[in-house]
Amino acid sequence: MSANTIEDNRSRFNFDGVEAIWLFGYGSLIYKVDFPFLEQRPASIQGWARRFWQGSHDHRGTPEAPGRVVTLVEQPEAVCRGMAYRVSPKVFEYLDVREKNGYLRFSTAMTFDDGCQAEGLVYIATEDNQAFLGEAPDADIARQIALATGPSGPNADYLLRLADSLRQLGDDCAHTFALEACLLKSGLLTES
Ligand code: SIN
Repeated sequence: MSANTIEDNRSRFNFDGVEAIWLFGYGSLIYKVDFPFLEQRPASIQGWARRFWQGSHDHRGTPEAPGRVVTLVEQPEAVCRGMAYRVSPKVFEYLDVREKNGYLRFSTAMTFDDGCQAEGLVYIATEDNQAFLGEAPDADIARQIALATGPSGPNADYLLRLADSLRQLGDDCAHTFALEACLLKSGLLTES
């Protein structure tokens, strides 16, 4: 089921007088940067863990066979590493459409590699959204990912590209790397 959050996000923040704002990306926003930005910096946010618990009916799956993409779940000791972009508020007109299947914009503090901090926004799909799928055994999640494909391409590409990007960022996201390993040994990947 899809969960269109475009209108919710548009009424969430008043960008009047704001020239630029930081956006923290932890999933496809790390590697699919199809929006303009003023500055880009690796960053981390505290208290959130990346999980493939969100359904994708519009990008990496279909309403009949949803894929799985990442969201963040609260975990006090967790640190989520990703990429921060300083963007014009206009960029959210596009990103709210891209992230419309259940993601809402939340304020967050982020820490850059030099220890400096900034406030910004992050898209999170909370467990009360209609497209939320939740926890499942790694093998089941990997199988669902292997079999799903949507308008943005195979769900497997999303997982493999994210894993590569996290490696480049020096991240050790055990959840993502465990799913990548399951996917690669599943025997379900087709040559593309
Ligand atoms: C993000 O990348 O920050 C949000 C989730 C996604 O679009 O994959």
